[in-house]
Amino acid sequence: MKDITSAQLREKFQAFMESKGHHRIASASVIPENDPTVLFTTAGMHPLVPYLMGTPHPAGTRLTDVQKCIRTGDIDEVGDASHLTFFEMLGNWSLGDYFKKEAITWSWEFLTSPEYLGLDKDRLAFTVFEGNEDCPRDEESYAIWRSMGVKEDHLFYLPKEHNWWGPAGITGPCGPDTEMFIITDKPACGPNCSPACSCGHYLEIWNDVFMQYNKQKDGTFLPLAKKNVDTGMGLERTICVLTGKKTVYETDAFTGILARISELCGKTYGEDEETTRAFRIIADHMRTATFILGDDRGVSPSNTDQGYILRRLIRRAVRFGMRLGMPEGFTCEIAKVIIDQYKGPYPELDRNSAFVLEQLKLEESRFARTLRQGEKEFDKVASRVQDGVIDGLSAFHLYDTYGFPIEMTEELARERGLTVDLPSFEENFRKHQELSHQGADQKFKGGLADQTVETARLHTATHLLHAALRKVLGDEVAQKGSNITAERLRFDFSFGRKVTKEELAEVEKLVNEAIEADVPVVCEEMTVPEAKEKGAIGLFESKYGDRVRTYKMGDFSFEICGGPHAEHTGELGHFKIQKEESSSAGVRRIKATVTGPQA
Ligand code: ALA
Repeated sequence: MKDITSAQLREKFQAFMESKGHHRIASASVIPENDPTVLFTTAGMHPLVPYLMGTPHPAGTRLTDVQKCIRTGDIDEVGDASHLTFFEMLGNWSLGDYFKKEAITWSWEFLTSPEYLGLDKDRLAFTVFEGNEDCPRDEESYAIWRSMGVKEDHLFYLPKEHNWWGPAGITGPCGPDTEMFIITDKPACGPNCSPACSCGHYLEIWNDVFMQYNKQKDGTFLPLAKKNVDTGMGLERTICVLTGKKTVYETDAFTGILARISELCGKTYGEDEETTRAFRIIADHMRTATFILGDDRGVSPSNTDQGYILRRLIRRAVRFGMRLGMPEGFTCEIAKVIIDQYKGPYPELDRNSAFVLEQLKLEESRFARTLRQGEKEFDKVASRVQDGVIDGLSAFHLYDTYGFPIEMTEELARERGLTVDLPSFEENFRKHQELSHQGADQKFKGGLADQTVETARLHTATHLLHAALRKVLGDEVAQKGSNITAERLRFDFSFGRKVTKEELAEVEKLVNEAIEADVPVVCEEMTVPEAKEKGAIGLFESKYGDRVRTYKMGDFSFEICGGPHAEHTGELGHFKIQKEESSSAGVRRIKATVTGPQA
């Protein structure tokens, strides 16, 4: 497998899973739908949470896909050999279908069969869950690996911190896992070396999670109605290991991007440590930024939520680009390479390429303008520092007034041997967010799988709102985002100007009329072309494979959606728009509430 490409691995994995009865589904958006607990899709299971909780999936009980994932918790680590903020995850799922025996047998077959990865059995190691008070030791998985011929010294029981996965947010599906490792040429670090150790002797490539619990808000674990399997294989990392490359940046995921960076700045990846780090940061951040902008639910750079992460990524890439002497407008040049490289498996990048390039150009020039001013201001702040620490309020001021992302302040500080009072910065940041009513804490109010009656009602209200907006404002209105907590709905949609008071009143009236009509919410499955033909609205990203679920409410609303929903519109009570505001250029945001059934 020395010469396997990303495209080949994507295909091999899904074809193998298909041969085991799985149905291929498309990657979902990187921006989660109706999930208030996280900003980005972090794993293949994430968009599947409702189905792991028991809702039937239109494509069946065995699914496989390659999911676009973003994890930005380690943004500052990017630049080293292994951290990435974007990656692709290969996965297969059993939704209450097969369990440990089949999952492990197939993982083994895919890894070792010459037709698939053909890995040397002696270079593989496995871990299973050692057990705790919530869940017993996973002797079953251990025995299955043994029955495949895995030797005892290649099998390890490890505690929860290593062999448990999920939930993706605060609550939701989770369970013990069994992880698969390649034994590398790097010698073990000592007699106690195990896959728990980060010395590099063992490298994880795949994880089979046995999702049989639902974590509650109070921290307890209840059994799920059905036992599921959720697996995840990191594409970039696996290609790296299979092709024997030193880092992910030497794999085909990055060679084209790095070559373009080199062309643009005249420097070479690997020529010295600092240049290498800058190349990696630009390549990683531009890849993630391109996928955020190029998503069908793509957002613009801003100072909140996903838009803020996007802004940080672009601005950090630009700053490292400046160090390399990159020409103005270089972010667009790199994005073009990325779009070209990925538009096959992710056609939305091509569809949205004009938006990607326009937004990058705008953000790059906005940043260039403020950067000079910000650096001057930083110099002033730094010259006032007495104890080597930049105080939180000054750091926040740099962020708030000069658009200086905090990690840039940290980096400039580091260059001068200073540190930043981060807790105090965060405190100031939080206060600011509360003031602007976009509190990050809102995101943590509802659990990931918080499918209460309230959220179902708000979800149904979102459909009515979407339909009413189109009736009042025209078909230019299309959903750009949706976020629901137990208290309110939030709906982002494309529209070029502020919605007038009169228009809002009309929208509210239409929604309330639909509620008063108390029509049933009818769910029907059909193919995407059928849904389109019948006039359904919604995102046609066909992440559900061939068949999608549609929800119809009288002749008022007809939309593609995964649910959950109220059964009758009357259950919503009274609908009220609380706020209408700008979300980003060309996108408006409405927050609204429902009262629930009235006595
Ligand atoms: N959800 C599991 C992971 O991300 C498979 O590792």
